[in-house]
Amino acid sequence: MKPTALVAGNWKMNGLASSQAELEALGNYLSDGSAADCDVLICPPFTLIAAFASNAPTGVAIGAQDCHTNKSGAHTGDISAEMLSDAGASYVIVGHSERRADHGESSALVRDKANAVLAEGLKAIVCVGETEAERDAGKTLDVVLGQVAQSVPAGSIPENTVVAYEPVWAIGTGRTPTVADVAEVHTAIRGALVERFGDAGNGFRILYGGSVKPSNAAELMAADNVNGALVGGASLKASDFNGIIDAYR
Ligand code: G3P
Repeated sequence: MKPTALVAGNWKMNGLASSQAELEALGNYLSDGSAADCDVLICPPFTLIAAFASNAPTGVAIGAQDCHTNKSGAHTGDISAEMLSDAGASYVIVGHSERRADHGESSALVRDKANAVLAEGLKAIVCVGETEAERDAGKTLDVVLGQVAQSVPAGSIPENTVVAYEPVWAIGTGRTPTVADVAEVHTAIRGALVERFGDAGNGFRILYGGSVKPSNAAELMAADNVNGALVGGASLKASDFNGIIDAYR
């Protein structure tokens, strides 16, 4: 069974209240008669989640980019999955490489965050990916499968967990792996999920992320075991993001 694809926008630290116009524009594209055969998600900065969730156009889910492992407490500057749920988020990205690199997040911490997300009834998007040095050293599959094993919670099921493969060197660089390289990594992730979760492993969505844009989306999304995209820069403009969603029309 092939999972329904997910095209997710990660706005990172971009977006002000005025950016709601892009959300509305996205809604217009989606309601324009050309239905897309995929789920659509926007993960804006925390400050926009509540406003976006209360005005989300039909067919657009709203998510967050990170959360703490705890529900509440003395954690200055952090936010809990419970708070994100309260604000209207339905997905939370965890373990993005920018969090792993900038905040020293380990795979064990990423798993604990994912568990906090699942405990709130939200969906976790667990990110994995190798650095350029790791790829050059021929360690891509070791690194990625190690992160999958350690970051994806034991309680994951296809309905609550998404895996996103984002080669670190492809993020924001305009460079992408070949379609064959993407297919190789995604198929290896699929194999690891099936080995661990049995048949259910076939139902998890595995997203590709890293310099996805309208001009390369169709070929990347057609690669084996690619079930959608996690998009950074090209998700900020509704017209570009819609051009990526076109891969599913
Ligand atoms: O999470 C999405 C991201 O890291 C990819 O960013 O700008 O290369 O699409 P970008």
